[in-house]
Amino acid sequence: MTASPLHLIANVFGREHQSLNGDWHAIVDPYENGYYDYRYEPLKNPYGSNEKPESPGDRIEYDFDASPTLKVPGDWNSQRPELGLYEGTIWYKTSFQARRSADRRQFLHFGAANYEALVYVNGKLLGKHVGGFTAFEFEVGDALVDGDNTVIVKVDDQRRKDGVPTVNTDWYNFGGLTRDVLLVSVPRTFVKDYFVQLEKGSLDRIGGWVLLDGPQAGKQQVSLRIPELGVDLKLETDASGRASFSVRPADHGAALELWSGEVPRRYSVEITGLGDRVEEKIGFRSITTQGADILLNGRPIFLRGISIHEQAPERPGRATSEADAKKLLGWAKELGCNFVRLAHYPHNPHTVRVAEELGLLVWSEVPVYWTIQWQNPDTYANAERQITEMVQRDKNRAAIILWSVSNETPISDARNAFLRKLIATVRGLDPTRLLTAALERHYAADELTHIVDDPLGSDLDVLGVNQYVGWYDGLPPKCDTVAWDVRYEKPLVFSELGGDAKAGHHGPADQRWTEEFQRDLYERQIRMMRKIRVWRGLSPWILTDFQSPRRSLPKIQEGYNRKGLVSDHGEKKQAFFVLQAFYRQLANDP
Ligand code: GCU
Repeated sequence: MTASPLHLIANVFGREHQSLNGDWHAIVDPYENGYYDYRYEPLKNPYGSNEKPESPGDRIEYDFDASPTLKVPGDWNSQRPELGLYEGTIWYKTSFQARRSADRRQFLHFGAANYEALVYVNGKLLGKHVGGFTAFEFEVGDALVDGDNTVIVKVDDQRRKDGVPTVNTDWYNFGGLTRDVLLVSVPRTFVKDYFVQLEKGSLDRIGGWVLLDGPQAGKQQVSLRIPELGVDLKLETDASGRASFSVRPADHGAALELWSGEVPRRYSVEITGLGDRVEEKIGFRSITTQGADILLNGRPIFLRGISIHEQAPERPGRATSEADAKKLLGWAKELGCNFVRLAHYPHNPHTVRVAEELGLLVWSEVPVYWTIQWQNPDTYANAERQITEMVQRDKNRAAIILWSVSNETPISDARNAFLRKLIATVRGLDPTRLLTAALERHYAADELTHIVDDPLGSDLDVLGVNQYVGWYDGLPPKCDTVAWDVRYEKPLVFSELGGDAKAGHHGPADQRWTEEFQRDLYERQIRMMRKIRVWRGLSPWILTDFQSPRRSLPKIQEGYNRKGLVSDHGEKKQAFFVLQAFYRQLANDP
C-alpha cells in the first residue's frame, strides 16, 4: 500500500525550495479511465506512469504534454466554464530539474489538494493523501533522477458520504491543486520540526521542542537562538532526534514583549543542527480562560470578529495568494475586527501569517461539518489526521488562539464520543491553545428562550454557538423578544449570525434580501446579544458573499450565499457599517 503523508516539515517556505507553481498539463478523467480498466480493476500502468509510445504500433490513448493546462495553485472550477460544476478526477503533470545527491533529500510539499490526491514521480507512486484543506509531503527519495523529473498528481474531488466533510455542505466544492506546490531540499539530517511558544498559563517562560530527522538525528547538538531576547540554548537530542527546552528571557536580562492585536510583536527564532539552519518570526502570547472571560496575556478580551470562507475576493474561485489574504483581512481590519473565524476548514498559510502580522486573533477549524458519519472508524481517522495536520502546520502561529473541532453537528452519543476523542487528540498535540466548536442550541417550551446546554460544552474552553434569530428563526423583530439561557460558566462566542442581502437591492426593512433588512437584523441582533452575561465575542456570517451550489434564487443569489457584509464585487452593504460602528464603540469602551 502507498506511503501515508509524512510529519510535516516546519516552515517549509523558509527552506531551500523551488516553486512548482505555474501551468500544469491536465487530463479531465470523469470515468477514472486513467486508473481503472474496463472491468474497473486498477490499471497496471495508470496515467501516473506517463507512458509514451515507443514504436508506431504502440497504443497509448493519453498524452499529458499535448493536453491543455490548468494553473496551480487554483481550483479547476473557475478556470474553465465546462469545469464549473465538475466533480471527479483531473490528472495534473509538471516537471522539475534536480540532481541526486548523497547529502541532500528532496520532498514534494503540497499546500492542499481537494479532495484525494495520488502523487507519482517518474512513474513511481509516492503516496496518497485524503482531505482537501491541509498540507502534505512525500519524500521523493530514490524516485529522483538527475535532470528532468516528472510529477503527476491524480486529484479526485468527489464528495463522499464517509468523507470529512460529508456530501452536504454550504460551500462550493472547488477541486484541484488549490494551494502552492514546492520541491523542498534539505540536508540528509535536518531540523524537521519545532514547537516554540509561551508555556501554558505563563507570561514569561518560552518552552517547546526541536526535532531532527535523518540518519544522525540522535544525540546531536542543536542550538536554539532568539537573539533579541539574549536566548542562546545548546540542546542535545535524545535517541529519537528530539530535544525539549524551557527558557525565561528575564533570566537573560531581556524584557519579552508579548504578541497582541495592538502590538503584533514577533521575534526571529533561529534553530541550527548539523549544519542545517532554519529561521522563523514567532510571536509569544498567552491565551487562557477564567470563568466566562477570555484572557489574552492575562487580560480579558472581547472578540470583535467576522467569519471568512476561503472565497477569492471579487472573483469566482478559491482564494490562494498572499494578495487575496491581504485583501480579505484588510476588509476585516476596516470593519474594526481583532478576530477572524477561518471557516469551515484550515485556510492557506498566507492567510494565517497575514492575520498574525495584522494582529488578528484566529479561530481555525476542520471540516467536521453537519452530518459526518460519527460511527465510521475511517471517518474518525480522517478527521483526526486532518486536525493533526492543521495543528502541525500552525502550532507556532501566535495569532491562532482557538482550535475548533466541529460546526453545527446534531447532538448524539456517537457525535459526542467522536468529538471528545478529537478534543483529546488536539489537547495532546497542543496544550497551549483553547478548544471550541460551533455548538447546537434549542428553544425552551415557550419558544422564546434559547438554551445553550450542548453536552460537548463541558469538554470545551469556549462555547461557539451559531444562531440565526431573525433570518432562519423568525424575522428581525424576534431578536427583541428572545432570551438566552447559557448553562455553562464559560465564554460564549456567537460563531455565526446574520442574514442575506443582495448589494444594491433596496426596500423597506421588513423586505427580505434588501440591504435595509440585513441592516435592521444586525442592529437588533447586537441589542439581543448585549443582554447575555457570558457573551465574549462574535464572528458574524460572513465577511463576503461566497459561492455555494445550494443558493440558486434568481436575481438574488444566483449561486452565491448573500450573507456577506461585502459583495462578490467588493461593495460594502449597509450592515457592514452597523457592525463597524459597534466595533468602534467596543474598542473605545471595552
Ligand atoms: C450554517 C453553516 C454555514 C452556512 C450558514 C448559512 O450555520 O454553518 O456554513 O453557510 O449556516 O446557512 O448561510
